Amino acid sequence: MSVHSEIKKITTETLRKMKFDKEKITMLTAYDFTTAKMVDAGGVDSILIGDSAANVMAGHETTLPITLDQMIYHTQCVVRGVERALVVADLPFGTYQSNPEKALDSAVRMMKEGGAHAIKIEGGKEIEESIRKIVNAGIPVCGHLGLTPQSIYQFGTYKVRAKEDAEAEKLIADCKLLEELGCFAVVLEKIPAALAKKASESISIPTIGIGAGPDCDGQVLVYHDMVGMNQGFSPKFLRRYLDLYSEITGAVSQYVKDVKSSDFPNDKESY
Ligand code: KIV
Repeated sequence: MSVHSEIKKITTETLRKMKFDKEKITMLTAYDFTTAKMVDAGGVDSILIGDSAANVMAGHETTLPITLDQMIYHTQCVVRGVERALVVADLPFGTYQSNPEKALDSAVRMMKEGGAHAIKIEGGKEIEESIRKIVNAGIPVCGHLGLTPQSIYQFGTYKVRAKEDAEAEKLIADCKLLEELGCFAVVLEKIPAALAKKASESISIPTIGIGAGPDCDGQVLVYHDMVGMNQGFSPKFLRRYLDLYSEITGAVSQYVKDVKSSDFPNDKESY
C-alpha cells in the first residue's frame, strides 16, 4: 500500500519522511470521538481539529466565534478516539495574534488540557514571534497560508488567494519563514495550483493543500464536506465520497414512518 502504512503512530517526523519519500500525506478533520475513531481506522495520517468546528458543528457563518475552551473540548473528544494518526488542533481566532506570551499560553493549554500532538495557526510574518515562542517551548506547529478563514473580514470573500504577484511572492517568503522557524508542515488553502507547486518545491517541510492542486505533499478536507453531510457547500476543489445528507435524511424519514405506523418496534425488537 505505502511505505508508512505499517507505522503504529504517526509523528511529525513521519510526515517529514513521507515528503522525502514522495508519499502523499492524508489529513481529514474530526471534532468528536466517534468520527475520530472511524477516520483513524480508515488510515488517515493526520486528524485536524479544525476551527471549522465553528461552522460544521456549531452552525456559525465564520470560524471566528469558537473559543479556546470549545476547541479544547473537541480535541479531548478526538484524542480519545485516535490510535495512529497525528492529532493537530487549531488555535482559534484571538488566542495567539495579540502577543507571543498569549500565543504560548494558548498552545500549552491545547497540548496539556486538549491532549493534541501539535497545533496549527494561521499567518506568516505577522505572527513570527508567536510561532518562534511556541516552537521554542517544544510544541510542534503547523502553519496555514493562502486563504486563512480567521481573516475573512479583512479579505471580504472566500475566493482564491495569491493570484497577484505581490501576494504570491509573500506566500513563498512566508513558507520559507515558517520552515526557518521550525514549523513541521504548512497548510496551503485555496491558492493557484502552480503557486502551491512552487511553494512545495521551495521548502523541505510538507505542504498540505486544500483547494491548492495536486502538487502539494498532502491533502486535507473537512470531514463533513467529503462525506456529503454539508449540502450547501460545493466548492470546485471538493470531492464528495458519500452523500450522507441524503442517506441520513432518508433513514430519519423511514424511522418517522415506521414509528407513526406502529411498525417499529416489532415483537423481535421488544422485551
Ligand atoms: O479549520 C479547518 O478545518 C481547516 C482546514 C480547512 C485546513 O483549517
